[in-house]
Amino acid sequence: MKVLIEQAKKAIQNCYAPYSQFRVAAAILDDAGKIHIGVNVENVSYGMTQCAERNAICSAISKGAKSITAVVIYTPTETPTPPCGACRQVIREFASNATVLSVCDSENRIESTINDLLPLSFNQKQHLS
Ligand code: THU
Repeated sequence: MKVLIEQAKKAIQNCYAPYSQFRVAAAILDDAGKIHIGVNVENVSYGMTQCAERNAICSAISKGAKSITAVVIYTPTETPTPPCGACRQVIREFASNATVLSVCDSENRIESTINDLLPLSFNQKQHLS
């Protein structure tokens, strides 16, 4: 987790958040032990904004990752930020039960799992049955 946190903190400088000024960076660990980074990328057409977590996952899958074992979310704030609902669903797609850790600039943190964050989810089991 330490390396994931370091990588997310390093990436925060690359956020593109001129509209909300709310910067988010994510670092994920894949099944092969590789780390992938994402930052939030906003757009003047606000609805086109892409969250840090989903950008990290898309980057990972683009590079050949098959599943996710951990997600770290860093915000340069006093309180940690849990993933939004859309990101929870996308994490679910690639994680049987990933650890999700939100960290910030204080000692506050939220450590959870995707199963706890998205109980009773719509997932491949329903879709394929
Ligand atoms: N944001 C994320 O990157 N991840 C989340 O899980 C929650 C929200 C971003 C989107 C937008 O750029 C900014 O935070 C404010 O909503």
